[in-house]
Amino acid sequence: MKFSLFGVLGLLTAATAVKVNPLPAPRNITWGSSGPIAVKQLSLHSSSNVVSHDDLNSAWERAWSAITTLHWVPAATEAPIPHFDPFPTPSANAKRDASAAIHSVHLSVANGDADLQHGVDESYTLEVTKTSGRVNIKAKTVWGAMHAFTTLQQLIISDGHGGLILEQPVKITDAPLYPYRGIMLDSGRNFISLPKILEQIDGMALSKLNVLHWHIDDAQSWPIQMQTYPEMVKDAYSPREVYTKADIRRVIAYARARAVRVIPEVDMPGHSSSGWQQIDPEIVACSNSWWSNDNWPLHTAVEPNPGQLDIIYNKTYDVVRNVYNELSGIFTDNWFHVGADELQPGCYNFSTHVTEWFAEDPSRTYNDLAQVWVDKAIPIFRDAGKHRRIMMWEDIFLSTEAAHDVPKDIVLQSWNNGLGNIDNLTAHGYDVVVSSSDFLYLDCGKGGFVTNDPRYDVMSNPDANTPNFNYQGPGGSWCAPYKTWQRIYDYDFTTNLTDAQAKHVLGAEAPLWSEQVDDVTISSSFWPRASALGELVWSGNRNAAGQKRTTELTQRLLNFREYLVANGVMATALVPKYCLQHPHACDFYYNQTAIV
Ligand SMILES: *[C@@H]1O[C@H](CO)[C@@H](O)[C@H](O)[C@H]1NC(C)=O
Ligand SMILES: *[C@@H]1O[C@H](CO)[C@@H](O)[C@H](O)[C@H]1NC(C)=O
Ligand SMILES: *[C@@H]1O[C@H](CO)[C@@H](O)[C@H](O)[C@H]1NC(C)=O
Ligand SMILES: *[C@@H]1O[C@H](CO)[C@@H](O)[C@H](O)[C@H]1NC(C)=O
Ligand SMILES: *[C@@H]1O[C@H](CO)[C@@H](O)[C@H](O)[C@H]1NC(C)=O
Ligand SMILES: *[C@@H]1O[C@H](CO)[C@@H](O)[C@H](O)[C@H]1NC(C)=O
Repeated sequence: MKFSLFGVLGLLTAATAVKVNPLPAPRNITWGSSGPIAVKQLSLHSSSNVVSHDDLNSAWERAWSAITTLHWVPAATEAPIPHFDPFPTPSANAKRDASAAIHSVHLSVANGDADLQHGVDESYTLEVTKTSGRVNIKAKTVWGAMHAFTTLQQLIISDGHGGLILEQPVKITDAPLYPYRGIMLDSGRNFISLPKILEQIDGMALSKLNVLHWHIDDAQSWPIQMQTYPEMVKDAYSPREVYTKADIRRVIAYARARAVRVIPEVDMPGHSSSGWQQIDPEIVACSNSWWSNDNWPLHTAVEPNPGQLDIIYNKTYDVVRNVYNELSGIFTDNWFHVGADELQPGCYNFSTHVTEWFAEDPSRTYNDLAQVWVDKAIPIFRDAGKHRRIMMWEDIFLSTEAAHDVPKDIVLQSWNNGLGNIDNLTAHGYDVVVSSSDFLYLDCGKGGFVTNDPRYDVMSNPDANTPNFNYQGPGGSWCAPYKTWQRIYDYDFTTNLTDAQAKHVLGAEAPLWSEQVDDVTISSSFWPRASALGELVWSGNRNAAGQKRTTELTQRLLNFREYLVANGVMATALVPKYCLQHPHACDFYYNQTAIV
């Protein structure tokens, strides 16, 4: 449906027009007041060093295709959108200078060869003036140029008469606050099909998120086809729920073409049963035990099904080396995530190797056991080359079963205890990726997934007589409540850190554990909440005066949700559509600065 934006916005003064609201908000965007200019067929003129850069050229074609196929009409603006006007007046249109138009994009990239790796320069500037008749983009790297395109494609909108316009003059100077801006996709608990993975990458690119942390396997399934151990894939959910090498390469290439890195995770030694047990059951402890929530002192896992790599059995390390090396040959990122979360001591009672090792020296502890893993496995992980950076969950350093000595160059991903653990890890000199579950876990608040749970049998449960009975609090979800976009955006994760500590915060990532997620709901679980994180880590949650701009994000995010859907990313609705069309009519407080 096309309707005249300038017809409906004709209530505004012509000079106000539509300062469209790209997400993430650029670090610095300044508008003039001359009004919109027509945009004609835009051709890309790139500096000679990148003129035949395939990924860059296809990124431009994609942006231009989105511009011309969508003819985007902002779905939510800061100004009220009056009712649909079937007979738009051409008045605002007539105010435009018919002779002026934008015909081209001039792109200059300083370093066309910079690889897409951690810390690569992603900055760009974008400037449009009527007198130049062009869009001028300057970027240090092609990756920054791609970000400029996703901004530009949001700026060019329908003129309501079959043409395109761009509000001008406009000048943008932009660069991310953090080099690591991610989401985590879990394809171990439920399989996620290739098209759905690519859809998440589309959402990331539009949100300027640059790291897809791919938690590939878990105890429940092993979905990757392997050459060294073809038998591992017997523990895929079905022969169709398998990623071939070609599939993985496709994901990496698709992501790279959108300035998104793919960091694989093979979770070890915990959360390891499927796949590994096919190679040799002896390298996996406790996979046939009862996970035992009902008798907690005997538990072998925090959720079904159990299984941990045997830390003492030597063959474990031969297998780990082969699996890791094969995957290191496919994944192109310098970083590799090797898990290390939630090691459960009870599991190792089922290993004769481990119980004999403890018996040999009664002074040995589970911390000593974790240290054996660090000492034997880390050298294997480092062997992948001098650029390899290893990433682990914080548990290896901060849990009851932590190792004594974790090398300081390992990047730790923090998920417990909010600011406290970020403070602790950075004070110890670790580089940290923030994924605090209280703010950034996207799977929380759905209740438990485990079956045969009598707590839900409210008719026979005497507690059910209590009004709003909620299973002693979180309703069966360990990390309840559901994290809303406002909670995510509001998270000041460097609060009270010293400058030295803050430098160790590389960025943040929103994980989506997939026990209760598959192709059907993955997109609506990630989006548009992950876009709120995208802005938090790109340009922050405060305005130039240092005030929280959560309320200001509202219309930007509501528009962006519609934009994601229009671009094929099945983001969930956040509000009744009434709220999009009546800016701030749905606010909790009338006072727009109530959030501080
Ligand atoms: C934003 O850019 C404008 C124009 O280039 C400049 O005058 C202004 O100081 C910049 N603002 C900030 C906060 O950097
Ligand atoms: C493991 O062994 C220890 C020591 O014997 C015991 O306290 C613990 O309950 C056992 N756990 C399991 C899961 O068997
Ligand atoms: C396991 O390997 C270590 C060296 O890493 C060696 O000292 C030990 O004897 C081996 N154990 C067995 C049972 O082979
Ligand atoms: C950090 O965590 C370690 C390990 O749990 C603990 O020993 C230490 O007291 C903590 N330090 C701070 C400053 O919280
Ligand atoms: C930050 O530190 C101040 C001063 O010690 C303290 O009052 C405040 O509670 C801290 N903020 C957070 C979020 O921990
Ligand atoms: C709006 O909220 C801010 C922050 O709480 C407060 O300082 C200000 O006085 C409020 N304004 C009005 C008009 O209530």
